Amino acid sequence: MARRKIYKVGDDTLRQVSKPVTEFDDKLSALIDDMIDTLIYEDGAGLAAPQVGVLKRIFVATFDGGSTIIEAVNPVIVKAKGKRVAAEGCLSIPEIREKVERPRHVVVHAFDRHGNPIELKADGFEASCFCHEIDHLDGILFTDRSIKKK
Ligand code: NI
Repeated sequence: MARRKIYKVGDDTLRQVSKPVTEFDDKLSALIDDMIDTLIYEDGAGLAAPQVGVLKRIFVATFDGGSTIIEAVNPVIVKAKGKRVAAEGCLSIPEIREKVERPRHVVVHAFDRHGNPIELKADGFEASCFCHEIDHLDGILFTDRSIKKK
């Protein structure tokens, strides 16, 4: 595993729409391992592939102080319910936290690194995190959704 450089706001890479993963190979596994390594080192909750300069639809997340690690390839939100407003931050936008409204509950369908389908159910902070990371795959940053801007 190796840590990767985090791309910061202002870099055009963060504004691109990522492409679906089609090859579930060793290269994908190595990328996901590097993303987990980077996320843990940076002490973040979630990290999407474009944040390390790879325009592929992948995110990783960690909760419970690192005891839960989630990896999602080609994630899609299939159900969203309720509303919740909470402050968010992002490893690509250092030192800024702004309030964002997100669904309170989400169900996400995705694949693991081997291409097996997975279902992720999340509430509250974890739901916000999944939505935030999936936004990255569409070139959207949380500051775009800041409730200050509405
Ligand atoms: Ni982020």
